[in-house]
Amino acid sequence: MKYFRSLRFRIMLMLVLIGIIPTIAASWLITQSYRERAVSIRISNVKNQCDVITRSIISEEYLTGEGQSDVIDNQLSMLSNIFSGRLLIIDSSFRVVKDTYDLDTGRTSVSREVISCFETGSSATFYDNRNAYIEFTVPIMETDGQRILGVLIASVSTNEIQQTARHLENQGIFVVVMVSIFVLVGGFFLANLLVKPFTKVTRAIEDVTDGYEDKAISVPTYIETEQITDAFNQMLSRVRALDNSRQEFVSNVSHELKTPLTSMKVLADSLNGQENVPIELYQEFMSDITQEIDRENNIITDLLTMVRMDRKAAEMNFEEREIGELLEQVMKRLRPIADKRGIELIMDPYQPVLAEVDMTKLSLAFSNLIENGIKYNVDEGYVRVSLKNDNKYFYVSVADGGLGIPEDQIEHIFERFYRGDKSHSTTIEGTGLGLAITRSAIVLHRGIVKVSSKVGAGTTFMVRIPLVHEE
Ligand SMILES: Nc1ncnc2c1ncn2[C@@H]1O[C@H](COP(=O)(O)OP(=O)(O)OP(=O)(O)O)[C@@H](O)[C@H]1O
Ligand SMILES: [Mg+2]
Repeated sequence: MKYFRSLRFRIMLMLVLIGIIPTIAASWLITQSYRERAVSIRISNVKNQCDVITRSIISEEYLTGEGQSDVIDNQLSMLSNIFSGRLLIIDSSFRVVKDTYDLDTGRTSVSREVISCFETGSSATFYDNRNAYIEFTVPIMETDGQRILGVLIASVSTNEIQQTARHLENQGIFVVVMVSIFVLVGGFFLANLLVKPFTKVTRAIEDVTDGYEDKAISVPTYIETEQITDAFNQMLSRVRALDNSRQEFVSNVSHELKTPLTSMKVLADSLNGQENVPIELYQEFMSDITQEIDRENNIITDLLTMVRMDRKAAEMNFEEREIGELLEQVMKRLRPIADKRGIELIMDPYQPVLAEVDMTKLSLAFSNLIENGIKYNVDEGYVRVSLKNDNKYFYVSVADGGLGIPEDQIEHIFERFYRGDKSHSTTIEGTGLGLAITRSAIVLHRGIVKVSSKVGAGTTFMVRIPLVHEE
């Protein structure tokens, strides 16, 4: 069953259809047209001969006189021989005057054809294909065309035509058989040849799957196979990239989780290793350890947030909200941190905008952006938030006049655990998950986030989110 769906079978089928069927049709057509033509030639020949003979019958007064004309008798038997047929002459009293087979001479013949010939005075032809003969009924009319003196019936065999036709048919069958064998054998090899590159593609893909091969595969025989392998290679490189980023993520997570633990261990060990440790040192180390615990806690919280974000839209909780208010709330929460460094948080004047959003996730996104604006800023700097909208989207921008991001880092900042510039990443705390979470939240709203930045001049994040959430 499966074979019928294979390309090999389809190719064979096609070859059979375009090779064998036309051959059968052609041989049938040839035989058929031969038969028709041969019969029509035979009919017209016999007709002519009959005309000639009826004319002689009249001129020799074969029927009117006492008429035993040898000339006519000879002509009749000659014709009978040539056409291997039987000729009958019937006079007006339906008596068979002459039968070249000498079977019915002297008898009365009142067949339908004879009667109708006497009535209409016209000749008739009847072709019996099955029994292979043609029958002619020709009136024997006086030269003035007034009186019908008799009827000539000629039954001519078409055996010979049938035989030739059958011979042609046999030859046709032979040709069809030969062509069929050729098409099937040739088709089998051709189909195999045509299908081979696809088998190659399958094998190459299997090799990759089984792990024997890790290079890009290539079967350039056809454009089609090339397209398949190209598509496969692309998919493969995506899968590999995903695999890499997964591995990287796991190793980053482990590293990030281990760092605070290592610090705590060092701190605890050094306390354990000393005798008579002054209480002040204990307190200092303990507060360091608490800080590390906080850090560990932050990382785990961020990780959990991110994993939750990854679990996609099913858990989104859309409701209509006023975005300006939402932004003001976020800023209110962050103001104490900004105040510590004298950084000004500015909200540009805005028109209220209602939009369908998941409050918690979107707040987190904007909170991360504004928090970054504060963290990577100069003392006494500013972070400016603005809100605009058109009839489809609302736009939020978070701009700071802070440190800025070097150009080569911009493409990485949304990656998980990526932390910019090593010089300040050691002094400014963070896990590098903030922007990854932000972007996930915005994408879940079917929005986009862009960044433009200049080192020493500041950074602007621009967010665009649809006002109405569509599934
Ligand atoms: N407004 C900004 N100005 C300058 N650099 C920025 C700004 N926002 C982000 N960056 C750079 O992008 C990096 C990634 O930011 P992200 O928020 O993802 O991580 P983080 O702030 O380091 O850690 P956290 O997970 O605590 O937010 C930062 O380490 C920083 O180098
Ligand atoms: Mg951050």
